Amino acid sequence: MAVSTATTPTTSSLSFSHLSFFQHKKTSFLCTKNSIVKRKCEHRGVHVKCMVLEKSSAAEAKKTKRQSVYTLQTLTSWLLKQEQDGIIDAELTIVLSSISMACKQIASLVQRAGIAKLTGVHGAVNTHGEDQKKLDVVSNEVFSNCLRASGRTGIIASEEEDVPVAVEESYYGNYIVVFDPLDGSSNIDAAVSTGSIFGIYTPNDDCLLDLEDSTTLDTVEQRCIVNVCQPGNNLLAAGYCMYSSSVIFVLTLGNGVFSFTLDPMFGEFILTQENIQIPKAGKIYAFNEGNYQLWDDRLKKYIDHLKDPGPSGKPYSARYIGSLVGDFHRILLYGGIYGYPRNKKSRNGKLRLLYECAPMSFIVEQAGGKGSDGQQRILDMQPVEIHQRVPLYIGSREEVEKLEKYLS
Ligand code: AHG
Ligand code: MN
Ligand code: MN
Repeated sequence: MAVSTATTPTTSSLSFSHLSFFQHKKTSFLCTKNSIVKRKCEHRGVHVKCMVLEKSSAAEAKKTKRQSVYTLQTLTSWLLKQEQDGIIDAELTIVLSSISMACKQIASLVQRAGIAKLTGVHGAVNTHGEDQKKLDVVSNEVFSNCLRASGRTGIIASEEEDVPVAVEESYYGNYIVVFDPLDGSSNIDAAVSTGSIFGIYTPNDDCLLDLEDSTTLDTVEQRCIVNVCQPGNNLLAAGYCMYSSSVIFVLTLGNGVFSFTLDPMFGEFILTQENIQIPKAGKIYAFNEGNYQLWDDRLKKYIDHLKDPGPSGKPYSARYIGSLVGDFHRILLYGGIYGYPRNKKSRNGKLRLLYECAPMSFIVEQAGGKGSDGQQRILDMQPVEIHQRVPLYIGSREEVEKLEKYLS
């Protein structure tokens, strides 16, 4: 369609979404929707009244201003906006950026694991007596390096380190970051979903820990442990990155849950979901039912109830990856319940309070859901050890409360 630019103002400063086209007797005219004054356009002797809205004030014009279709909100610009709004300070913005950088690097390593010979075991066992995968070790290094390089972290505690470590660089900050660099790593060799989980605290000398049996630790290590062992209630920020068919970065700063998707075309996380709310209830359960015979009878009754078709004729659906991040992400979006109960062999279950259960519980509560150990709120639990395990039931509020009733 031929377009006349005979009308003023010029179009050079306008984005596509601000423009509208009108045809008159085979002649096209271009007008702007946001013109402040009504004007008449004359073209080849034909009088054409531009169909523009009359605006009384600039404020109203601003209200109707639409965003360019090319505007994308990146994680970086979103974080800067949070900083401008006073929700986080500049230091925390930098810590979060460095975490997102670590996640991008790990995403790339996970995707290339088979090619880069990063599958298989590392040859050592970690502090929990579990085989360390090569990628567990590499991801831990990547995460730690990014945090140290940020110059804004003072102490870091990882699933893959025995004790939390003080950042000894000459340029360091105050933030404490706890993390599981690669969660669900048993899935790596099969290219199934994995993730990274993190939580951020400020130093807290009020944590009262019994360090009597830690006489081998020096004062720096003791200070690190005391500062790291904080209840989830003290979390400033928490999030996870899921390495799946998409790479998804989910974050809360204590004011809602936001999700960003890595655009592989230009390597940036783009805001794709704002203020995520978990459904109040949902008919999906994610438990490793292979452990059924090891469970408490009350829990068995609960699981039996989920399988009962009831009057609706439709039982709950079982979905289990064996990767907390992947299983949790599905529950966050679709509703339902994830559980890793205690059992006869593992009295406290498997998952770690500090860098798995607490950050996930902070996220789920920010989305309107619930995180519990079956009796109490996960965020109220004071860790007594860095790698402490607790049972975890997390997801839709009604589903978690129903389970708590069965266990009481
Ligand atoms: P990690 O790979 O960090 O050790 O965590 C694995 C965890 C968690 O992601 C998952 O939910 C759970 O282990 C699966 O355990 P089971 O294989 O016992 O079901
Ligand atoms: Mn894990
Ligand atoms: Mn892990």
